[in-house]
Amino acid sequence: MNATPPQPPCPPQPPQPSDSPTTAQLLRAHQIRLVRGPLVLRPMTEDDWPLLLPWNQDPQLLFLTEGTGNPKSYTLAQIQNIYRTVSQHAYNFMIEHQNQPIGECWLQEMNLAHVTARYPGKDCRRIDLMIGAKTFWGQGIGSTVIDMLCEFGFGAEKADLIFGLVGSHNPRSRRTFEKNGFILDIQTPQPPGSKAEHEYTLILTPQVWRSRSPAI
Ligand SMILES: CC(C)(COP(=O)(O)OP(=O)(O)OC[C@H]1O[C@@H](n2cnc3c(N)ncnc32)[C@H](O)[C@@H]1OP(=O)(O)O)[C@@H](O)C(=O)NCCC(=O)NCCS
Repeated sequence: MNATPPQPPCPPQPPQPSDSPTTAQLLRAHQIRLVRGPLVLRPMTEDDWPLLLPWNQDPQLLFLTEGTGNPKSYTLAQIQNIYRTVSQHAYNFMIEHQNQPIGECWLQEMNLAHVTARYPGKDCRRIDLMIGAKTFWGQGIGSTVIDMLCEFGFGAEKADLIFGLVGSHNPRSRRTFEKNGFILDIQTPQPPGSKAEHEYTLILTPQVWRSRSPAI
């Protein structure tokens, strides 16, 4: 398994054929639980595959979450490899609304060299999220989840910078990050024929985040 694969906008590309699911590590366990009103971000576990698989086999969700790639579906072995690999350098969470699992998200060490190269010595992280239960879109949940991860990232984790990566084919996602104070840092043209003309790297500093959440 490639331990440092380049990742498109959330989540990462499928494993290469040489990757064997049998060599994948299990999800890295953690004890972080973030709560705000009816929303809970709880640790993702090895019991969550039945929840994660259908979301990763939904073409509409994959169209939005994948970068330049265009997979129509993932197998269980593929998503296990993706989430387990990411979790080695991330906090993977399940999103629950009133005790109902509705999505997943993570706060991950920045894994893109062209981003970290711009901020030497800085602790850079990235947020990726998917509300798999689509009836919950457009209710402010995505914005709140991002804010909860920023509170954890800039607070307990003392991150210097947090990023979001979105494709130009997903304006809802861009807006959701921008509502939290993220601004455009890098605009990367995508190859001709890609569903996204550009990949946007959005950035948030703790100063901007705190100015928006002064009570926290
Ligand atoms: C993207 C996602 C996380 C957003 O979560 P959400 O709960 O729907 O977002 P919110 O309700 O908090 O905010 C959505 C904002 O986008 C706006 N929006 C919706 N559709 C839009 C569009 N086509 N263009 C621009 N803005 C749009 C909404 O009006 C709202 O902004 P407002 O509050 O200023 O009106 C969620 O929809 C999702 O999981 N989508 C599928 C997976 C995905 O795209 N993940 C992100 C990959 S980078």
